[in-house]
Amino acid sequence: MKKLILNDKLKMQLDEIAEIAGYLWQKGWAERNAGNISINISDIIGEENKKLPAIATYSLPLSMKELAGDIFYVTGTGKRMRDVAKDPLMHGAIVRVAADGNSYDIIAEENIKPTSELPSHFSIMASFKEKGSKNKLVLHTHPTDLIAFSHIPEFKDENRLNEMLWAMHPETFIVVPHGVGFVPYEVPGTMAIANLTLPALDKHDIIIWEKHGVFAVGENLTDTFDLIDTLSKSAQIYAFTKSCGYSPEGLSKADIEGLIEPFGIKL
Ligand code: 13P
Ligand code: ZN
Repeated sequence: MKKLILNDKLKMQLDEIAEIAGYLWQKGWAERNAGNISINISDIIGEENKKLPAIATYSLPLSMKELAGDIFYVTGTGKRMRDVAKDPLMHGAIVRVAADGNSYDIIAEENIKPTSELPSHFSIMASFKEKGSKNKLVLHTHPTDLIAFSHIPEFKDENRLNEMLWAMHPETFIVVPHGVGFVPYEVPGTMAIANLTLPALDKHDIIIWEKHGVFAVGENLTDTFDLIDTLSKSAQIYAFTKSCGYSPEGLSKADIEGLIEPFGIKL
């Protein structure tokens, strides 16, 4: 049986997946099997690996022609992030989308079924290609603080939520100048949640799935993790002052606008 050839770039990518999966667990955002990661690794997988035989084949809920022939690392459904951190290849799969876009093959290392959120992951990956975006990955996780805010009626308003988060720390506007999007509750793992998520990503690189978690996209996993971590810090500052019995003063609108020029922020 042919085995995956671990070239340097692939090894580095797997190491980064392990590192970030470990952070998700340490942060308390990844109870049990919470969260999932998909990365388009077509550019780094190597020609030999691309031809690996299929271990298993699964059909896709709708045709993903844009992704034909592309190769992805995808965390497995039901797998724990704390285990992905130890060995990404034993708790996730390398998959190849078929030439007609109707199915995908698992090509390495074990027959591990991809995340239940694959419909969202793949429809968003397909939209990256349609738009010529440099984004390569999606990261979904369950940050307690940001989920908590999605339960509070006042903060279900996207403008109000971002106003609060940006006001808590200057870095939040510097790192997430387009703010976080808000997607109303939908059943996890469905095309319905994928369809609500897609348009929200036109304006944002990170969105909150109401009462569920966050969904972030990017070019590399570390920067994408940082988006979530930065918003989470703001949510904690707000909650901390409130839990001490105060209301945070917050940065003013002028304070926030004053970051645009010095930090070269493009809105
Ligand atoms: P999976 O185990 O299928 O990836 O699901 C975890 C999750 O967070 C669903 O939203
Ligand atoms: Zn989830």
